[in-house]
Amino acid sequence: MRRPDRRTIRTFQRRLLAWYAAHGRDLPWRRTRDGYRVLVSEIMLQQTQVDRVLPKYREFLRRYPTVQELAAADVNEVRRLWYPLGYNVRPVRLHAIARETVARYHGRLPADERALRALPGIGRYTAGAIRAFAHGHDAAILDTNVRRVLGRVFLGPRRLARVRGQKAWWDLAEALVPRGRAYDFNQALMDFGATWCTPRKPRCAPCPMRAFCAAYAPLRRAGDGAARR
Ligand code: ADE
Repeated sequence: MRRPDRRTIRTFQRRLLAWYAAHGRDLPWRRTRDGYRVLVSEIMLQQTQVDRVLPKYREFLRRYPTVQELAAADVNEVRRLWYPLGYNVRPVRLHAIARETVARYHGRLPADERALRALPGIGRYTAGAIRAFAHGHDAAILDTNVRRVLGRVFLGPRRLARVRGQKAWWDLAEALVPRGRAYDFNQALMDFGATWCTPRKPRCAPCPMRAFCAAYAPLRRAGDGAARR
């Protein structure tokens, strides 16, 4: 996949950050840089929508306010508290991560990608999220929402069909992260995908990316101002 030119990258970064300042969601895990809280939120958000995560995130942290308290808990009790969220291997892994973090890292989640990915249930996405959100590193994130946004803006339907494999996507995601701004940029990408550039009814008319969006261009040429795709 060809890397977008520097000007387009800069424009995308600037517009996304401006969009986030105006439209970003105020979510409780964005009011902390504490690695444990970031971890709990990201594991919950792996397979569950924000609305359903919100009450459980608060309940979970009331019950286990620190990584030490989670590590010391009985895993079956942790599973019971988690249960209605589903995908119930996640609390078992989260508990194991807490134990390892306490035993090997003095209760502080590592910032190193390899060390993070050696922990149970932490893949490239979650490692990137922890590095960016807890440690302030310039790490990229990539999930289904982000892939849809990047695929639309930078590839469009024809080139999208030719992309094979994950590496090209990660290379693109990494090329876009603005230095020193990974925190806001990544949170912005997620909100933009979840609330504007949605799968079925993207809000193209007021979209700040419209002028250079590769998925919008064919619609524009067809004279279809109110894009439905
Ligand atoms: N999905 C995964 N991580 C998220 C986050 N930090 N904010 C909103 N949605 C998310």
